[in-house]
Formats: sequence, structure tokens, C-alpha cells
Amino acid sequence: MNRKNFIGAMGLGASAILAPGCRKNISGSSILPDYNSVDPSSYWAAVRRGYVLDADRVYLNCGGLGPAPSRVLEAVELKSKELQSISETGYSLLDQARIVAAEYLSADSDGICFTRNATESNSIIAAGLKLKKGDEVIFESHAHPGGSFPWLNRQKRDGIAVKVFDPDSESMEGSVERILKLITPRTRVIQVSHITAPTGILFDVKAIAALAREKGIWFHVDGAQSAGMIPVNLQAIGCDSYATSGHKWMGGPRGTGILFIAKDRMDDVECSHLGGHSELEYELPDGITYQPSARRHEYGTRNTELVEGLRVAMELQESIGLERIEAYGSGLANYLQSKLREIDGTRILTPSDPKMRRSITAFASSRIPFDTLSNRLMREYRMRCRQVTERGLNAVRLSTHIFNSKSECDRVVEAVAEITKSV
Ligand SMILES: Cc1ncc(COP(=O)(O)O)c(C=O)c1O
Repeated sequence: MNRKNFIGAMGLGASAILAPGCRKNISGSSILPDYNSVDPSSYWAAVRRGYVLDADRVYLNCGGLGPAPSRVLEAVELKSKELQSISETGYSLLDQARIVAAEYLSADSDGICFTRNATESNSIIAAGLKLKKGDEVIFESHAHPGGSFPWLNRQKRDGIAVKVFDPDSESMEGSVERILKLITPRTRVIQVSHITAPTGILFDVKAIAALAREKGIWFHVDGAQSAGMIPVNLQAIGCDSYATSGHKWMGGPRGTGILFIAKDRMDDVECSHLGGHSELEYELPDGITYQPSARRHEYGTRNTELVEGLRVAMELQESIGLERIEAYGSGLANYLQSKLREIDGTRILTPSDPKMRRSITAFASSRIPFDTLSNRLMREYRMRCRQVTERGLNAVRLSTHIFNSKSECDRVVEAVAEITKSV
């Protein structure tokens, strides 16, 4: 299949050829060549051609911002024109996307609402839980500002107490024990990043959910680095709430996010913002009955074409297969890590235990400051990485996803070797 045909096939209205072995296809709308497990390179090359990514640049910052496939961009543009031509909001698109998101995250669709980003999803939980002065919230010291600021704000505003633990990068059980040690009778919330942003530590969220449930503590997962990188099964995890970005690993349009709240916990999250569409019914001046579902947080006019794009992104990933995506991205990360380790002075900060990591690689060199290394990779080799400044970790982060390739990883390793040798 040539580039033109493939882009066409990735567009709207294409008939279905399912990638064998994929988890589940919702609409059956993706066309990719057959997956050849002996040599899948042409399959992944076809996936890559579905992006407008600059061929001369190596993009390794999906954990910061993920590119959307052409098919997603086209879907947004098409839907936008369609809606503009009749000047309608397209609100029903949210409900269509909600069903797809529920399948994608293995969750009850009533628990899903669309937001603008993971920060907004985290903020709805942090602002909405009924907490009093002195109540305690525990999260990891590697939390992204989009996960920590909403709680720091509550600490400032309402006098709750934030407690942080350093994630154990050598043992999943170690982190659970560190959380356990911080729990007191005043602990009301535990939050973790499903996968941490700075170094890609994967937490045992199922075990933490069980611990929180046993103690009657709310458990919120910041999944900005998990949805789209790994299959997420919210039913199996058993958390009370989960937040993610659409515009990172999921390949959705910029300005999309998802929040999930467990159905039986819906009323524990007070609404900070309400408006049209939040209500089941209302009467002035008597009051309002909220939507029983998480839709109550989708107030006012929305950019529904972006959510349509996110729906298309989820369907596209489903057609590739979420397990296949996970295996590919983490396979590239494994490869990168093994090759980087061979370079003199290089240290990998991402956990060495494969159970505790997936598609994020953080590394540092004793020969060159991390920021100089990252800047030189960008300036001299056009390799876009992310600097890890959190908690003085001082590292370079590489995110490997479905549009990256083994040959790009080889180029990165070569560039790091050249730069570190030159100093
Ligand atoms: C763990 C985590 N939470 C939250 C965010 C913020 O995401 P967004 O920009 O979608 O609000 C990020 C972004 O990198 C993140 O890694």
C-alpha cells in the first residue's frame, strides 16, 4: 500500500481490515497491512505513515504531547466543517465517544466525562472531594504538577495536609509499603500516577486500590501516562476515579481529556462548575437535580469535534490492538535501555525490573549535564526529548510509541555516544 492509499484508507469512510490479534475493534474502521509477527517492520512503517510527523526529526516526547494521526486530524476538520455548516454544537458526539471510551478503558460509560486535559480531570476530583482542614492526601513525590497542584491548592485554600512518598524504583511492593506507612486515621485520599512522568515507574494500582478500599480511603489514579501506552482496565483496577489526557499516548487532538468516576462514588465528588447539560432537571429558585452520571461535569458548550477526534483515535488504537501497542513501545524502550547502558558513563533511571516499566526511558550521563545533552540532541540531531528536572533527577526522558522505530532508537544511541565522547 503506498502512502497516498494508506492516508486515504486512514481517512473517514474506509472499510475494515482488522489487524489480527487485536483486542477488540469497536467500529472496524482501521486499515493497516496484515501484521507479520516474524517481520512486523512494514506494519509499523505503515502506522508511521499515518502521521504528519516531520521525517527528519525524531520525536521522543509523546509523554509530553503526542502527535495525532492524520486520520484524527481529518476527522476533527471534517466534523468541525459539518457542524459549522449547520451551526450546531454536536453534543450527541460526546455520548457516542463515551461508549467508545468506556470500552477502551473497560469502564462503565456512566462514569466517563470528557474534559480538556488530565489536569482538569485531576482538578475535578481534588476540588470536589469533601475534605476538612487536617484531612490528609497522599501522593508520590514524582507527581506531575497537573497531579500535585490541585492538591497543593486545596492545602493552601482549605488546610488539608499533603503527604508525599518517594516511589520505590526497585519494587512495586516497596511503594505500597511506603504508602501504608503514611496512612493515618486522617488519610482521606491516595493518588498515584499510574505510570510516573519523570522516569516511567509503573505502580501496582490494583494493590493500592485494594489497600485504599480496605481502609475506606478514596483512590484516584492519574493516568496521563498510561492510557494509550498500555491497556487500562478500570474495572479490574478498582479505583474510585481515574484521569487521563487524550493528547499524549492516546493520539487524540490537543485539548482533550477523560475523567472516570465510579458510579457508586459519583455524589462524593461535589461539582465546582455547573451549567447547561449538568442537570437532570431544575427549577428556579428551588434547585437542581444533577445528571446521575459523570456527564454532570460536562457543562456548557463544548468543542465536540475534538471529542470526535478522540473517539477516532481510540478506535484506531483498538484496531491496532492495545496489547500490541504496549509491546511495541516497551520493546523499543527495552532496546534503547540495553544500548544506552553500553555507553560509558550512562545511567538508566527507569526501573530495571520489566514489570515496573513500559515505554518511558529516563537516563543520565556522568560525562555531560542532562540539559546540555538534551539541548544538543535537539539542536545537532533534531531529536526531541524531555528534560527531567523533577526532584533533582536531572535526566533525559525518551518516550517510544507506535510511530517510532528501531532505526530511530539506533540513531539516538549513536547520537548520545557521539555527544558523550566529544566532551
Ligand atoms: C502524570 C501526569 N499528570 C498530568 C499531566 C498533565 O497533563 P495535561 O497536560 O493533559 O493536563 C501530565 C503531563 O505530562 C502527566 O504526566
